[in-house]
This record gives sequence, structure tokens and C-alpha cells, in this order.
Amino acid sequence: MSLLIKNGRVITATDDYQADILVQGEQIVAIGKELPAGDAQVIDATGLLVMPGGIDPHVHLDMPFMGTFSSDTHETGTRAALHGGTTTVIDFVLQKQGHSLQEALDEWNGRANGTAVGDYSFHMAVTDFNPATKAEIKTMVEQEGITSFKTFMAYKGALMIDDRQMTDLMQEVRQQGGMVTVHATNGDVIDYLVAKHLAEGKTSPLYHYLSQPEVTEAEASARFTDLANYTGCPGYIVHMTCEGALNAVRNATRRNQKVYVETCIQYLLLDASKYEQGFDSAKWVMSPPLREAKDQETLWAGINQGLVNIVATDHCPFMWEQKLMGKDNFAKIPNGHPAIENRMELLFSEGVSKNRISLNKYVEVACTNPAKIFGMFPKKGTISIGSDADIMLFDPKEQHTISAATHHMRVDYSAYEGWPLTGKVKTVLLRGKVAIDKGECLVPKGYGQFIKRNKVSGKI
Ligand code: URP
Ligand code: ZN
Ligand code: ZN
Ligand code: ZN
Repeated sequence: MSLLIKNGRVITATDDYQADILVQGEQIVAIGKELPAGDAQVIDATGLLVMPGGIDPHVHLDMPFMGTFSSDTHETGTRAALHGGTTTVIDFVLQKQGHSLQEALDEWNGRANGTAVGDYSFHMAVTDFNPATKAEIKTMVEQEGITSFKTFMAYKGALMIDDRQMTDLMQEVRQQGGMVTVHATNGDVIDYLVAKHLAEGKTSPLYHYLSQPEVTEAEASARFTDLANYTGCPGYIVHMTCEGALNAVRNATRRNQKVYVETCIQYLLLDASKYEQGFDSAKWVMSPPLREAKDQETLWAGINQGLVNIVATDHCPFMWEQKLMGKDNFAKIPNGHPAIENRMELLFSEGVSKNRISLNKYVEVACTNPAKIFGMFPKKGTISIGSDADIMLFDPKEQHTISAATHHMRVDYSAYEGWPLTGKVKTVLLRGKVAIDKGECLVPKGYGQFIKRNKVSGKI
């Protein structure tokens, strides 16, 4: 089965040119001018941008969290991702404290294998690092193709590890050729502020925000960066929101240390005024919380400075009924918001159309860097001969609006309801198959494949 994409404008992280792309089976086999169609099915891409499928390296699908489960399954979440131009996601396996990494992986495999529609991989979240866990790191890297190990410096009692475990883990992961990633906020300070606010009877979502001030993130980001430098372990900070945290990484560049930084689309576009809407604000209760206009500016600038490497989502949706678990206590609102379907269009509309970033930068932070940093390049994340034919055809001019009434995520509200967009995903190919066309998903449940990842260099 072959496909010929004709007359498109091909954009990669480095190039911008008119060409045809020939796909055979799952891969791109030729790129050139006026390629002959032969018996290939022709897709006319006149007037469209032809870009790599998006890679969202931070999503939580069907995840047990705060007494409930995130509401998108691997099926519904990866299907919604495809609708939004994202062909591969990296989901988080959570080790249960007192149990092994392998048990957790078996559980996640049970949920995702045979149900995912789009391609996926896993990060392993290490929540209990001990001699038994330590012995499993090599197996994860060598046999399972899981090369990134997530840590939490907050969520004490469920997910958080201490600095002793962090240092030990970093030394082991470095030796095995992996990377440590982190939710970098100071859990003890946050727990203190949460308890203080609740004791004072301050229970609304606003106090979620006031319990996680910028210093909690800046301090933890600097501490993580220092430990990564000391151990020599490649490090990656997830969902960075603020100037103080980015400055910790900026400072580290002075000693020629590279720590990768991910921000998420919400931190570029939304601010803490969302917490002034009574309980409706629960839609944006996430950790870390939304910040200030000055932080948005720092993050956009950080993208162009090469300090912020990836724009992800931290997609962690909950139905409104689940959010209501925290009606009388902000600390019980399940943390997270839905965005897996919206990232590519929002970043294009707010980033490229509004001239904050270039088209090449767009592809770099949404597709190519996630593939490179997490060991999937050049199979994923670019348009080149031999790469998987994961391709998004995009109309840069079409205007439309985000709404829960039309989205495909399994959640009954949108965090971006009514948001006007310039630019629309038209057709999406995943491994050579037309997965999305005219708003329809054409690949079945179970089409998504688990992607084993390579060891990481920590230097790209
Ligand atoms: O609020 C969030 N971010 N929920 C998902 C879990 C996490 O901390 O990434
Ligand atoms: Zn067990
Ligand atoms: Zn987090
Ligand atoms: Zn997350």
C-alpha cells in the first residue's frame, strides 16, 4: 500500500520546502519534486503545511490519582491526540510504594496494549527507590525500552521521594544510560501551606494556587539541577511554569550543564486570574498552578533562547463530577486539565500565527525535540526517508473554535471553551495509514503500538 502526498509545503525543525512525499508501508521512502504516483493513492496537499506528527511526552491516561482515575483511557486519549495532530504520546507508569516497577509496568501494559489508537511509550515513575527497585532499572532500559525515570519532589506519602533516594537513583540511571525527569516543587513547603490554609478555613480553589508559590518550584528546580550536575545524570524538568525555575536552569548553563526543560501549553497561554472564578476555577486546578503574565513571557522567550526544549500538555483530565470531590476542600480536587487534543492547534495559533515563534521552532518543540530527547529519533519526530510516516497536513489559515461540544477527549468541559484558533489539522497519517481525515478517525482501537526507546545522551 503506497501513498503520495503531493504539492505540500514540508516543514521540519530545520527546513521549509515544496515537495512530494512517497509513503510505502509504514515509512517515508522518497521525498522530491514531481514524484510519479504509479499506483499510489494521491493526497493533494496544495496550500497545506506538511509537518511531522506531534509528540506529547507528558500525558496521564487512565491513571489512578487522588482517589480516582484520569478520565481518558489509552483508547480515548490517543484517539483525541490523533484528532489534534499528535501521533505519539508518552504516558506515565506509576510504581506503587512498597511494590516493584515491573508490577506497575504489567498493570499499564494491561490497560494500553491492544486499546491505544495512537502510538505510545511509557516513562517509569519511581516512587520508592530501594535496593530492589535499583536492580530493576537496567531491565527497564535494556529490555523494556523505558529510558526515562520520573520522580516527584512533591505529593508526599504517595509519590514523593527524598533527596537521598533521588541521588541514588540518578547515579544508577546515569550508569544504565537513562534520564531522570522530575516534577520539581518543594513538597514539604506545599504541604505546610495547604495545612495552614485549610486550618484558616480557606478551602476554595484559589488556595490551591496560593499554596504553591513560585519559590516552591524555583527552589526544587535548582536543587534537582544541582543533584543532576553532581551525579552527572541527564536531567529533565517537566511542566515548568515560571521565571524563578527557568533561571535555575539558565544559571546551570554557565557551568556547561544541560538540563532539559518542558513547559506545557497552559503555562504559555493561561494565567492565575483563572483562580478568581469561585469553584469553576477547579477546571484549572493543576500542579504546579497557572502563574503570571511575566512568567508566560519568560517561557516564550525561553523557547526562542533554546532553554525551553519542549511544549507538552500534562494532559490529566477529570470529569466535572470528579472535580467536585474537592467542593469543600481544594486539596481534594483531582489535579490536572485536558489538552491532549488542543496542543498542536493552540501552539500554532498562539505561537506561529501570532509571530512569537517560527514554523521551524514549532516543529522543533512539538515534534522533533520530544523524539530526540526521549530516544525515538529519527523513527519519530521528523520527515525524512526511513522515518515512520507520521505526518500532519495542516491548513494554516482556517479559523475555528475550541469547544467541549466538538472535542474527542473523554471529559465534559473544555479548559479552552470558545478559544479562537487560526490553523486546523486536516489529515493525519500514523505509520503510513490515514488515521484522521475530515474529522473522522479511520484507524481502529489497538492500532497504536508501544514504542521502545533508545538510551539517551543528555546532549542534543
Ligand atoms: O496537576 C497535574 N499536573 N496532574 C498530573 C500529575 C502531575 O503532577 O503531573
Ligand atoms: Zn508487590
Ligand atoms: Zn507533575
Ligand atoms: Zn503530569
